[in-house]
Amino acid sequence: MEFQPNRNITKKQPYRICFVCLGNICRSPTAEGIFQQKIKVCDLDSFFFIDSAGTSAYHVGEKANATSRRIAESHGVPLLSRARQFNSIDFYEFDLILAMDSSNYVNIMKLKSGITDSQVEMMRSFDPDGPNEDVPDPYYGGINGFENVFTILDRSSKELLKQLSPYIVKE
Ligand code: 4NP
Repeated sequence: MEFQPNRNITKKQPYRICFVCLGNICRSPTAEGIFQQKIKVCDLDSFFFIDSAGTSAYHVGEKANATSRRIAESHGVPLLSRARQFNSIDFYEFDLILAMDSSNYVNIMKLKSGITDSQVEMMRSFDPDGPNEDVPDPYYGGINGFENVFTILDRSSKELLKQLSPYIVKE
């Protein structure tokens, strides 16, 4: 099913997306970097505000994982973020919160209370090849896991931008 954002996207009201995983050093910074790159290439930077966060505080302040950075850079995507922990204020700061796996999703929803701006979805609900599966955690695996994560996130980000595009109002 196609995703429906809760409003149109304009330069005055950029669409705010936060990608969320556990540590905010592997999957979500990669998703953030990929999506940022895609909107830059399409000259849509000013229509979006993109960020990422982790449900845990394990790596707060750290750069993205060295292997994640190396793989992303080999695909022309710089990863520039520093890890931060997801918190309940984020529900008011973002229109769309995208969980990398079902555990992240459960932990995000535990923090959600009241009426907020945001919609919360699974990242792979945008994956044409693997709807609603987890983006596998590459942290304890080998190099192939990181490549696989990049490929999944690239595919899902492309579809995400495609589904949001009809709501971009350029005036
Ligand atoms: P991420 O990967 O959630 O994709 O950033 C992980 C990073 C660190 C840990 C787990 C997953 N950790 O347990 O420290």
